[in-house]
Parts: sequence; structure tokens; C-alpha cells
Amino acid sequence: EEKIISLTEDIKRLKKERNAIILAHVYQRPEVQEVADIIGDSLELSRRAAETDADVIVFCGVHFMAESAAILSPQKTVLLPEENAGCPMADMVTAEALRAKKEEMPGAVVVAYVNTSAEVKAESDICCTSANAVKIVHSIPEDKEIIFIPDKNLGMFVATKTNRPMTLWEGWCNTHDWVTTEEVTKAKEEHPDALVLIHPECRPEVTAMADYVSSTTGLIKFAKDSEAKQFIVGTESGILHQMYKQCPGKEFFLATKRLVCPNMKATTLDKVKKALETMQPQITVPSQIREKALICLERMLEVK
Ligand code: 13P
Ligand code: SF4
Repeated sequence: EEKIISLTEDIKRLKKERNAIILAHVYQRPEVQEVADIIGDSLELSRRAAETDADVIVFCGVHFMAESAAILSPQKTVLLPEENAGCPMADMVTAEALRAKKEEMPGAVVVAYVNTSAEVKAESDICCTSANAVKIVHSIPEDKEIIFIPDKNLGMFVATKTNRPMTLWEGWCNTHDWVTTEEVTKAKEEHPDALVLIHPECRPEVTAMADYVSSTTGLIKFAKDSEAKQFIVGTESGILHQMYKQCPGKEFFLATKRLVCPNMKATTLDKVKKALETMQPQITVPSQIREKALICLERMLEVK
């Protein structure tokens, strides 16, 4: 506890000295969320990274998120406190494999979930996050074929919602894809009054059991606005910190204890402090890739 307080103070001081801003995803450890200037889902964090006038962005999240910040703000220093915090789902599609798919389907529009590398974004037409995927797919002309990468679960959810057939990629999130219908059924038996909130990275049969399916921020907002007092949560555990903070008097139960993303938990206050002290590890994107990936991200940010 004392250590957390002293680290937090050091980080606040260093942040001023460096003119830095700390962005944290809602899956981060609670104490890391507490030092952040902005907490949000992938979409909000991308927007804020694009807008900030700080010199340094400390990205408490995973690699593709810091990379997106570097693509949107090339003149800023982007730090990822734990260099090895990756996203296994993002690694399930390579630029090479995507190029081969595009050759099989010339003329198809590639919609890339932001959970992809800069190289893959550079090969794609438009990005999306779980918060705007339905809107992004709606924005694509009806006569175009769509290749959706890399999350087959989010892809399936969006295809169903939009009634648009899409070619899905064989990718998934190890954390969300684990959730089973049995676990949700058990949680519902234990908490019969609770509403079920599910992230679209879960399997279709699990999202089918939800009262509400949305991105992380969408789920928090729903819990806040709802009359219900109890909720079963089908997304990464870090979100509970924001849910409890933003919804006083309400209760939240994880659908399963396994809803933990080890990569999201790899960032600690120690590492945030060290990053600000050493200005490492920095995330950069080579300009040739950056310019193409930027088009893909900007097209997403332009869709209202
Ligand atoms: P959100 O876009 O809902 O924040 O999700 C990001 C993510 O990595 C989910 O696993
Ligand atoms: Fe990637 Fe899943 Fe972790 Fe999100 S929760 S960062 S999709 S592994």
C-alpha cells in the first residue's frame, strides 16, 4: 500500500517533468488505472492519442495500442512500459497471410480490428474496434465483399448484426474465447437477478446469452444507466475496477475467474515509473508502414 502511494507520487512528478500523458486500457491493474489521465476502450484511447498535445504518451495497454498511438502521433514519444505486452490475437494474422488472402479475393474490402500490427493495418482498408465495428461495416458499399480480420467471434457478431456475409479469419482472443455457456449458466444460477454483459470477443453461443453485448466502455455505460443492481461480466477482470468506481451500490460477478489477460496485467507501477525515468521502451513504426496504416486508422476515425 505504502509502496503504491510512493510510486504513484513519483509517477505524477515525472509525468509533469516529461510533459507526458498516461493512457490506460480498462483491463489494466487498478493501481495503474489510478495513475492514468485517460482510461478507456481501444477506440477512446486511439482518439485521445490522436488529440493530445503532450510530448510523451505512456501507453498502459498492449503493443498494438501503443503502435496505433505512434501511427497517429509520429512526432510524439510513445512508451510501452512493458515491451513484451502483446496481444496473442493480433499475432494470429500476418501481413504475408493477409496478402495471400487478398489475392484470392481481389476487390474485397479488408476490415481490420485494431487488434492488429501496423504491418497488417498497412495492408488493410479500414480499421474498427469492438465499439464501432457494426457502424464501420455498415459504411462499406453493399456490393463489396468483406474480409474481416482477425477475430472470428467479433466478425461473426458483426455479420449477424449487419446481416452482411463476411469472410472471417481464424483468429480469437485466448481470454474471451475461453468463456463457456456452462460457466455463464452457472453464474446465472448463482445470481438470478443479474443481467449478463458480454464482450463480442466471446464465442457466438456465449454472446447469445447476453442481455447486452458491447465494447468495454459500452458495458460500463450500460451498467451505469441500468436499473439492475447486479451484473455478470463476460470480459477481462480489470473492468471491474471501473464498474465498481462508476456504479456505486451495484455488484459485479465475473462470468469465470479465467477472464484475465496476462499481457494486460504485465504493466505495473514500477514499470510505468521506469519508463518515464528512462524514456524506454519506445514504440516506433517505420514511415512507409506508418503512412499506409494511418489511412486505415483515419478512415475509421472519420466514420461518425
Ligand atoms: P475494447 O475495444 O472493448 O476496449 O477491447 C479491446 C480488447 O483488447 C478486448 O480484448
Ligand atoms: Fe488481446 Fe484478448 Fe488481451 Fe484483448 S484481452 S489484449 S484481445 S489477448
